[in-house]
Amino acid sequence: MRMVDLIEKKRNGKELTTEEINFIIEGYTKGDIPDYQVSALAMAIYFKDMNERERADLTMAMVNSGETIDLSAIEGVKVDKHSTGGVGDTTTLVLAPLVAALDIPVAKMSGRGLGHTGGTIDKLEAIEGFHVEITKDEFTQLVNEHKIAVIGQTGNITPADKKLYALRDVTATVEAVSLIASSIMSKKIAAGSDAIVLDVKTGAGAFMKTTEDAKELASAMVRIGNNVGRKTMAVISDMSQPLGFAIGNSLEVKEAIDTLKGQGPADLEELCLALGRQMVYLAGKASSLEEAEEMLREVIHNGKALEKFKDFIRNQGGDPSIVDHPEKLPQAKYLIEVPSREDGVVAEIIADEIGTAAMLLGAGRATKESEIDLAVGLMLNKKIGDAVKVGESLVTIHANREQVEDVIQMIYDNIHIADHADVPVLVHGIVTE
Ligand code: URA
Ligand code: CA
Repeated sequence: MRMVDLIEKKRNGKELTTEEINFIIEGYTKGDIPDYQVSALAMAIYFKDMNERERADLTMAMVNSGETIDLSAIEGVKVDKHSTGGVGDTTTLVLAPLVAALDIPVAKMSGRGLGHTGGTIDKLEAIEGFHVEITKDEFTQLVNEHKIAVIGQTGNITPADKKLYALRDVTATVEAVSLIASSIMSKKIAAGSDAIVLDVKTGAGAFMKTTEDAKELASAMVRIGNNVGRKTMAVISDMSQPLGFAIGNSLEVKEAIDTLKGQGPADLEELCLALGRQMVYLAGKASSLEEAEEMLREVIHNGKALEKFKDFIRNQGGDPSIVDHPEKLPQAKYLIEVPSREDGVVAEIIADEIGTAAMLLGAGRATKESEIDLAVGLMLNKKIGDAVKVGESLVTIHANREQVEDVIQMIYDNIHIADHADVPVLVHGIVTE
Protein backbone atom coordinates (compact mmCIF):
# COMPACT_ATOMS: atom_id res chain seq x y z
CA MET A 1 0.00 0.00 0.00
CA ARG A 2 1.27 3.46 -0.85
CA MET A 3 0.06 6.56 0.95
CA VAL A 4 0.06 8.59 -2.26
CA ASP A 5 -2.49 6.24 -3.81
CA LEU A 6 -4.75 6.54 -0.78
CA ILE A 7 -4.58 10.34 -0.91
CA GLU A 8 -5.51 10.19 -4.59
CA LYS A 9 -8.37 7.78 -3.86
CA LYS A 10 -9.90 10.10 -1.28
CA ARG A 11 -9.20 13.16 -3.42
CA ASN A 12 -11.31 11.49 -6.13
CA GLY A 13 -14.15 11.01 -3.67
CA LYS A 14 -13.77 7.25 -3.17
CA GLU A 15 -14.26 5.27 0.01
CA LEU A 16 -11.21 4.06 2.00
CA THR A 17 -11.32 0.47 3.28
CA THR A 18 -10.83 -0.52 6.92
CA GLU A 19 -7.36 -1.88 6.07
CA GLU A 20 -6.39 1.33 4.33
CA ILE A 21 -7.50 3.47 7.26
CA ASN A 22 -5.60 1.25 9.69
CA PHE A 23 -2.51 1.44 7.47
CA ILE A 24 -2.65 5.25 7.48
CA ILE A 25 -3.15 5.67 11.23
CA GLU A 26 -0.57 3.03 12.21
CA GLY A 27 1.98 4.46 9.79
CA TYR A 28 1.36 8.00 10.95
CA THR A 29 1.61 7.12 14.65
CA LYS A 30 4.93 5.32 14.10
CA GLY A 31 6.31 8.18 12.01
CA ASP A 32 6.53 6.11 8.79
CA ILE A 33 4.04 8.37 7.03
CA PRO A 34 5.09 12.04 7.06
CA ASP A 35 3.00 15.04 8.09
CA TYR A 36 2.81 16.41 4.54
CA GLN A 37 1.02 13.35 3.24
CA VAL A 38 -1.42 13.26 6.15
CA SER A 39 -2.05 17.00 5.62
CA ALA A 40 -3.03 16.32 2.04
CA LEU A 41 -5.30 13.47 3.12
CA ALA A 42 -6.96 15.64 5.79
CA MET A 43 -7.68 18.27 3.13
CA ALA A 44 -9.10 15.60 0.83
CA ILE A 45 -11.35 14.42 3.69
CA TYR A 46 -12.39 18.02 4.31
CA PHE A 47 -13.67 18.30 0.73
CA LYS A 48 -14.85 14.73 0.00
CA ASP A 49 -15.90 13.66 3.51
CA MET A 50 -16.13 10.14 4.90
CA ASN A 51 -19.13 7.86 5.19
CA GLU A 52 -20.40 6.36 8.42
CA ARG A 53 -18.25 3.22 8.14
CA GLU A 54 -15.07 5.16 7.42
CA ARG A 55 -15.72 7.45 10.40
CA ALA A 56 -16.15 4.47 12.74
CA ASP A 57 -13.00 2.86 11.34
CA LEU A 58 -10.98 6.05 11.72
CA THR A 59 -12.20 6.39 15.31
CA MET A 60 -11.23 2.82 16.20
CA ALA A 61 -7.86 3.12 14.45
CA MET A 62 -7.10 6.13 16.67
CA VAL A 63 -8.36 4.30 19.79
CA ASN A 64 -6.00 1.42 18.95
CA SER A 65 -3.03 3.75 18.40
CA GLY A 66 -2.42 3.93 22.15
CA GLU A 67 -3.44 2.74 25.58
CA THR A 68 -7.06 2.26 26.55
CA ILE A 69 -8.55 2.38 30.01
CA ASP A 70 -9.98 -0.87 31.29
CA LEU A 71 -12.95 -0.24 33.57
CA SER A 72 -14.08 -3.87 33.63
CA ALA A 73 -13.17 -4.18 37.34
CA ILE A 74 -15.91 -1.64 38.07
CA GLU A 75 -19.36 -3.15 38.51
CA GLY A 76 -22.35 -1.81 36.62
CA VAL A 77 -22.88 0.19 33.44
CA LYS A 78 -20.31 2.99 33.32
CA VAL A 79 -21.68 6.14 31.67
CA ASP A 80 -19.40 9.00 30.73
CA LYS A 81 -20.38 12.54 29.84
CA HIS A 82 -18.50 14.81 27.51
CA SER A 83 -18.98 18.45 26.65
CA THR A 84 -17.51 20.01 23.53
CA GLY A 85 -16.41 22.94 25.70
CA GLY A 86 -18.25 25.82 27.26
CA VAL A 87 -17.85 28.90 29.41
CA GLY A 88 -18.78 28.63 33.08
CA ASP A 89 -19.92 25.07 32.40
CA THR A 90 -20.31 23.56 35.84
CA THR A 91 -22.38 20.55 34.75
CA THR A 92 -19.82 17.81 35.48
CA LEU A 93 -19.46 18.93 39.10
CA VAL A 94 -23.21 18.65 39.51
CA LEU A 95 -23.81 15.55 37.39
CA ALA A 96 -21.15 13.31 38.87
CA PRO A 97 -22.61 13.23 42.42
CA LEU A 98 -26.17 13.51 41.14
CA VAL A 99 -25.93 10.38 39.03
CA ALA A 100 -23.75 8.52 41.58
CA ALA A 101 -26.47 9.16 44.17
CA LEU A 102 -28.63 6.82 42.06
CA ASP A 103 -25.99 4.08 42.36
CA ILE A 104 -24.72 4.58 38.83
CA PRO A 105 -20.93 4.27 38.69
CA VAL A 106 -19.19 7.50 37.68
CA ALA A 107 -15.59 6.70 36.75
CA LYS A 108 -14.40 9.95 35.31
CA MET A 109 -11.14 10.89 33.73
CA SER A 110 -10.91 14.66 33.44
CA GLY A 111 -8.62 17.36 32.16
CA ARG A 112 -7.55 20.89 32.89
CA GLY A 113 -8.88 23.99 31.18
CA LEU A 114 -7.28 25.96 28.38
CA GLY A 115 -8.23 29.40 27.00
CA HIS A 116 -11.80 30.52 27.67
CA THR A 117 -13.02 27.06 28.69
CA GLY A 118 -12.54 25.68 32.19
CA GLY A 119 -11.52 22.17 33.25
CA THR A 120 -13.19 19.97 35.83
CA ILE A 121 -9.93 19.15 37.61
CA ASP A 122 -9.08 22.82 38.13
CA LYS A 123 -12.51 23.39 39.63
CA LEU A 124 -12.19 20.44 42.00
CA GLU A 125 -8.75 21.62 43.10
CA ALA A 126 -10.40 24.78 44.43
CA ILE A 127 -11.41 22.46 47.29
CA GLU A 128 -8.55 22.38 49.81
CA GLY A 129 -6.77 19.01 49.80
CA PHE A 130 -8.70 17.53 46.89
CA HIS A 131 -6.45 15.58 44.55
CA VAL A 132 -6.89 13.53 41.39
CA GLU A 133 -3.45 11.90 41.42
CA ILE A 134 -4.71 8.52 42.54
CA THR A 135 -3.64 5.10 41.29
CA LYS A 136 -5.83 3.03 38.98
CA ASP A 137 -6.46 0.59 41.83
CA GLU A 138 -7.59 3.34 44.17
CA PHE A 139 -9.78 4.71 41.41
CA THR A 140 -11.46 1.34 40.81
CA GLN A 141 -11.93 0.74 44.51
CA LEU A 142 -13.48 4.16 45.10
CA VAL A 143 -15.97 3.73 42.28
CA ASN A 144 -16.94 0.24 43.43
CA GLU A 145 -17.43 1.39 47.00
CA HIS A 146 -18.79 4.92 46.57
CA LYS A 147 -19.87 5.00 42.89
CA ILE A 148 -17.78 8.06 42.19
CA ALA A 149 -14.18 9.06 41.54
CA VAL A 150 -12.26 11.43 39.28
CA ILE A 151 -8.75 10.73 38.04
CA GLY A 152 -6.40 12.97 36.05
CA GLN A 153 -5.55 12.10 32.47
CA THR A 154 -3.20 9.12 32.58
CA GLY A 155 -1.35 7.03 30.06
CA ASN A 156 -0.69 7.44 26.40
CA ILE A 157 -4.27 7.70 25.15
CA THR A 158 -4.96 8.14 21.40
CA PRO A 159 -1.51 9.39 20.32
CA ALA A 160 -2.70 9.35 16.69
CA ASP A 161 -5.38 11.89 17.56
CA LYS A 162 -2.86 14.13 19.32
CA LYS A 163 -0.65 14.21 16.24
CA LEU A 164 -3.51 14.58 13.78
CA TYR A 165 -5.29 17.30 15.77
CA ALA A 166 -2.08 19.36 15.99
CA LEU A 167 -1.55 18.91 12.25
CA ARG A 168 -5.15 19.92 11.42
CA ASP A 169 -4.71 23.02 13.54
CA VAL A 170 -2.01 24.35 11.20
CA THR A 171 -3.46 23.09 7.90
CA ALA A 172 -6.97 24.59 8.07
CA THR A 173 -8.59 21.16 8.39
CA VAL A 174 -10.01 21.32 11.92
CA GLU A 175 -13.57 22.06 10.74
CA ALA A 176 -14.38 18.74 9.07
CA VAL A 177 -17.23 16.95 10.83
CA SER A 178 -15.72 13.50 10.13
CA LEU A 179 -12.44 14.52 11.70
CA ILE A 180 -13.92 16.34 14.71
CA ALA A 181 -16.36 13.52 15.48
CA SER A 182 -13.72 10.78 15.24
CA SER A 183 -11.25 12.85 17.27
CA ILE A 184 -13.65 13.40 20.17
CA MET A 185 -15.12 9.90 20.08
CA SER A 186 -11.71 8.20 19.97
CA LYS A 187 -10.79 9.82 23.30
CA LYS A 188 -14.12 8.94 24.90
CA ILE A 189 -14.00 5.34 23.70
CA ALA A 190 -10.41 4.90 24.87
CA ALA A 191 -11.52 6.17 28.30
CA GLY A 192 -13.41 2.92 28.69
CA SER A 193 -17.03 3.64 29.61
CA ASP A 194 -19.92 1.55 28.30
CA ALA A 195 -22.16 4.46 27.35
CA ILE A 196 -21.55 8.08 26.46
CA VAL A 197 -23.68 11.20 26.81
CA LEU A 198 -22.53 14.16 24.73
CA ASP A 199 -23.24 17.81 25.33
CA VAL A 200 -22.68 19.49 21.98
CA LYS A 201 -22.57 23.25 22.41
CA THR A 202 -23.71 25.79 19.88
CA GLY A 203 -23.37 29.58 19.78
CA ALA A 204 -20.65 32.21 20.21
CA GLY A 205 -18.83 30.37 22.99
CA ALA A 206 -18.84 27.07 21.12
CA PHE A 207 -16.86 25.31 18.50
CA MET A 208 -19.99 24.94 16.37
CA LYS A 209 -21.47 28.38 15.85
CA THR A 210 -24.83 27.31 14.38
CA THR A 211 -27.44 24.84 15.59
CA GLU A 212 -27.39 23.01 12.22
CA ASP A 213 -23.64 22.42 12.47
CA ALA A 214 -23.97 21.29 16.07
CA LYS A 215 -26.73 18.84 15.13
CA GLU A 216 -24.65 17.44 12.31
CA LEU A 217 -21.69 16.92 14.63
CA ALA A 218 -23.88 15.41 17.35
CA SER A 219 -25.46 12.90 15.05
CA ALA A 220 -22.07 11.97 13.56
CA MET A 221 -20.76 11.24 17.07
CA VAL A 222 -23.89 9.37 18.17
CA ARG A 223 -23.62 7.14 15.07
CA ILE A 224 -19.92 6.45 15.65
CA GLY A 225 -20.59 5.49 19.27
CA ASN A 226 -23.46 3.18 18.44
CA ASN A 227 -21.60 1.67 15.48
CA VAL A 228 -18.67 0.66 17.69
CA GLY A 229 -20.83 -0.75 20.48
CA ARG A 230 -21.07 2.16 22.92
CA LYS A 231 -24.59 3.38 23.56
CA THR A 232 -24.44 7.11 22.83
CA MET A 233 -26.88 10.03 23.06
CA ALA A 234 -26.44 13.77 22.75
CA VAL A 235 -27.96 17.04 23.87
CA ILE A 236 -27.50 20.15 21.72
CA SER A 237 -27.22 23.05 24.13
CA ASP A 238 -26.87 26.78 23.86
CA MET A 239 -23.52 28.43 24.54
CA SER A 240 -24.22 31.91 23.21
CA GLN A 241 -24.12 33.14 26.82
CA PRO A 242 -22.16 31.53 29.70
CA LEU A 243 -23.93 28.80 31.64
CA GLY A 244 -25.24 29.78 35.07
CA PHE A 245 -23.87 32.87 36.79
CA ALA A 246 -20.39 31.82 37.89
CA ILE A 247 -17.24 31.71 35.73
CA GLY A 248 -14.13 30.79 37.71
CA ASN A 249 -13.09 27.82 39.77
CA SER A 250 -14.14 28.51 43.40
CA LEU A 251 -17.18 30.39 42.17
CA GLU A 252 -18.28 27.41 40.10
CA VAL A 253 -17.83 24.97 42.98
CA LYS A 254 -20.17 27.16 45.02
CA GLU A 255 -22.61 27.23 42.09
CA ALA A 256 -22.50 23.44 41.81
CA ILE A 257 -23.31 23.12 45.53
CA ASP A 258 -26.28 25.48 45.12
CA THR A 259 -27.51 23.42 42.19
CA LEU A 260 -27.20 20.15 44.12
CA LYS A 261 -29.37 21.80 46.79
CA GLY A 262 -31.98 22.68 44.15
CA GLN A 263 -31.09 26.37 44.45
CA GLY A 264 -28.88 26.82 41.42
CA PRO A 265 -29.32 28.94 38.29
CA ALA A 266 -32.30 27.78 36.20
CA ASP A 267 -30.28 27.15 33.03
CA LEU A 268 -27.60 25.11 34.79
CA GLU A 269 -30.25 22.98 36.50
CA GLU A 270 -32.14 22.45 33.25
CA LEU A 271 -29.02 21.31 31.41
CA CYS A 272 -27.94 19.01 34.26
CA LEU A 273 -31.35 17.35 34.18
CA ALA A 274 -31.29 17.04 30.37
CA LEU A 275 -27.88 15.35 30.44
CA GLY A 276 -28.49 13.46 33.66
CA ARG A 277 -31.66 11.81 32.44
CA GLN A 278 -29.82 10.44 29.40
CA MET A 279 -27.09 9.10 31.70
CA VAL A 280 -29.61 7.39 33.98
CA TYR A 281 -31.50 5.98 31.01
CA LEU A 282 -28.37 4.63 29.30
CA ALA A 283 -27.26 3.10 32.59
CA GLY A 284 -30.45 1.06 32.45
CA LYS A 285 -31.85 2.47 35.71
CA ALA A 286 -35.00 3.93 34.17
CA SER A 287 -37.31 2.80 31.39
CA SER A 288 -37.87 6.27 29.99
CA LEU A 289 -36.19 9.66 30.03
CA GLU A 290 -39.15 11.06 32.01
CA GLU A 291 -38.76 8.44 34.72
CA ALA A 292 -35.02 9.14 34.81
CA GLU A 293 -35.67 12.84 35.35
CA GLU A 294 -38.05 12.09 38.22
CA MET A 295 -35.34 10.03 39.91
CA LEU A 296 -32.83 12.87 39.58
CA ARG A 297 -35.22 15.42 41.04
CA GLU A 298 -35.83 13.07 43.96
CA VAL A 299 -32.13 12.83 44.96
CA ILE A 300 -31.80 16.62 44.75
CA HIS A 301 -34.91 17.04 46.88
CA ASN A 302 -34.00 14.46 49.56
CA GLY A 303 -30.40 15.65 49.91
CA LYS A 304 -28.76 12.42 48.72
CA ALA A 305 -26.99 14.16 45.83
CA LEU A 306 -25.46 16.70 48.19
CA GLU A 307 -24.39 13.94 50.62
CA LYS A 308 -22.75 12.13 47.70
CA PHE A 309 -20.80 15.27 46.85
CA LYS A 310 -19.44 15.41 50.42
CA ASP A 311 -18.57 11.73 50.26
CA PHE A 312 -16.73 12.27 46.97
CA ILE A 313 -14.71 15.22 48.35
CA ARG A 314 -13.76 13.31 51.51
CA ASN A 315 -12.67 10.23 49.54
CA GLN A 316 -10.22 12.25 47.47
CA GLY A 317 -8.61 14.11 50.36
CA GLY A 318 -10.71 17.27 50.26
CA ASP A 319 -12.45 19.13 53.04
CA PRO A 320 -16.18 18.29 52.82
CA SER A 321 -17.12 21.11 55.20
CA ILE A 322 -16.93 23.52 52.23
CA VAL A 323 -20.32 22.17 51.17
CA ASP A 324 -21.99 23.71 54.22
CA HIS A 325 -19.47 26.55 54.41
CA PRO A 326 -18.62 27.61 50.86
CA GLU A 327 -16.98 30.75 52.30
CA LYS A 328 -14.05 28.44 53.11
CA LEU A 329 -13.29 28.16 49.39
CA PRO A 330 -10.50 30.45 48.14
CA GLN A 331 -11.84 34.01 48.09
CA ALA A 332 -10.64 36.91 45.95
CA LYS A 333 -9.34 40.08 47.62
CA TYR A 334 -11.34 42.60 45.59
CA LEU A 335 -15.00 42.57 44.57
CA ILE A 336 -15.66 45.12 41.84
CA GLU A 337 -19.11 45.84 40.41
CA VAL A 338 -19.57 46.70 36.74
CA PRO A 339 -22.61 49.00 36.58
CA SER A 340 -24.83 49.27 33.52
CA ARG A 341 -24.44 52.53 31.62
CA GLU A 342 -27.89 52.21 30.02
CA ASP A 343 -31.48 51.34 30.81
CA GLY A 344 -32.91 48.41 28.85
CA VAL A 345 -32.79 44.66 28.52
CA VAL A 346 -29.69 42.49 28.30
CA ALA A 347 -29.66 41.31 24.68
CA GLU A 348 -26.27 39.61 24.36
CA ILE A 349 -23.54 38.20 26.60
CA ILE A 350 -20.87 36.94 24.21
CA ALA A 351 -19.76 33.74 25.93
CA ASP A 352 -16.24 33.22 24.58
CA GLU A 353 -15.23 36.85 25.15
CA ILE A 354 -16.60 36.83 28.69
CA GLY A 355 -14.69 33.57 29.24
CA THR A 356 -11.55 35.32 28.02
CA ALA A 357 -12.20 38.21 30.44
CA ALA A 358 -12.29 35.69 33.31
CA MET A 359 -9.08 34.16 31.97
CA LEU A 360 -7.36 37.57 32.07
CA LEU A 361 -8.12 37.73 35.80
CA GLY A 362 -6.33 34.39 36.17
CA ALA A 363 -9.35 32.05 36.25
CA GLY A 364 -8.12 30.27 33.12
CA ARG A 365 -4.92 29.52 31.24
CA ALA A 366 -3.67 31.53 28.29
CA THR A 367 -1.14 28.76 27.58
CA LYS A 368 -0.77 25.22 28.93
CA GLU A 369 1.98 26.45 31.27
CA SER A 370 0.00 29.34 32.84
CA GLU A 371 -0.73 29.19 36.57
CA ILE A 372 -4.35 29.71 37.49
CA ASP A 373 -5.84 31.55 40.44
CA LEU A 374 -8.64 29.44 41.89
CA ALA A 375 -10.28 32.34 43.74
CA VAL A 376 -10.91 34.76 40.88
CA GLY A 377 -13.60 35.01 38.23
CA LEU A 378 -16.84 36.69 37.27
CA MET A 379 -20.36 36.48 38.65
CA LEU A 380 -23.02 37.50 36.17
CA ASN A 381 -25.77 39.45 37.87
CA LYS A 382 -27.88 39.57 34.71
CA LYS A 383 -28.57 37.08 31.95
CA ILE A 384 -30.06 37.59 28.48
CA GLY A 385 -33.63 38.87 28.78
CA ASP A 386 -33.17 40.53 32.19
CA ALA A 387 -34.18 44.18 32.53
CA VAL A 388 -31.48 46.52 33.79
CA LYS A 389 -31.32 50.13 34.95
CA VAL A 390 -28.42 52.57 34.80
CA GLY A 391 -26.12 51.92 37.75
CA GLU A 392 -27.32 48.38 38.42
CA SER A 393 -24.51 45.83 38.46
CA LEU A 394 -24.15 43.64 35.37
CA VAL A 395 -21.24 41.62 36.67
CA THR A 396 -19.26 41.31 39.91
CA ILE A 397 -15.55 40.89 39.26
CA HIS A 398 -13.71 38.73 41.82
CA ALA A 399 -10.07 39.79 41.45
CA ASN A 400 -6.76 39.49 43.20
CA ARG A 401 -5.46 42.63 41.51
CA GLU A 402 -6.71 46.12 42.14
CA GLN A 403 -6.55 47.41 38.56
CA VAL A 404 -9.10 45.64 36.37
CA GLU A 405 -9.76 48.27 33.67
CA ASP A 406 -8.95 45.74 30.93
CA VAL A 407 -11.55 43.29 32.26
CA ILE A 408 -14.19 46.00 32.75
CA GLN A 409 -13.67 47.14 29.16
CA MET A 410 -14.12 43.59 27.85
CA ILE A 411 -17.32 43.23 29.83
CA TYR A 412 -18.76 46.46 28.40
CA ASP A 413 -17.71 45.41 24.90
CA ASN A 414 -19.42 42.05 25.20
CA ILE A 415 -22.62 42.61 27.15
CA HIS A 416 -25.09 44.44 24.94
CA ILE A 417 -28.13 46.29 26.25
CA ALA A 418 -31.07 46.96 23.89
CA ASP A 419 -34.83 47.67 24.10
CA HIS A 420 -35.66 44.03 23.60
CA ALA A 421 -33.98 40.64 23.64
CA ASP A 422 -34.50 37.22 22.08
CA VAL A 423 -33.90 34.84 24.95
CA PRO A 424 -32.02 31.82 23.56
CA VAL A 425 -33.50 28.35 23.98
CA LEU A 426 -31.16 26.33 26.21
CA VAL A 427 -31.73 22.84 24.84
CA HIS A 428 -31.91 22.95 21.04
CA GLY A 429 -32.55 19.29 20.66
CA ILE A 430 -31.60 15.79 21.64
CA VAL A 431 -30.05 13.17 19.38
CA THR A 432 -30.83 9.61 20.38
CA GLU A 433 -30.60 7.94 16.93
N1 URA B 1 -12.03 18.77 19.96
C1 URA B 1 -11.34 17.64 19.74
O1 URA B 1 -10.99 16.94 20.66
N2 URA B 1 -11.06 17.30 18.48
C2 URA B 1 -11.43 18.05 17.42
O2 URA B 1 -11.15 17.68 16.30
C3 URA B 1 -12.13 19.23 17.67
C4 URA B 1 -12.42 19.57 18.96
CA1 CA C 1 -21.40 28.58 35.70
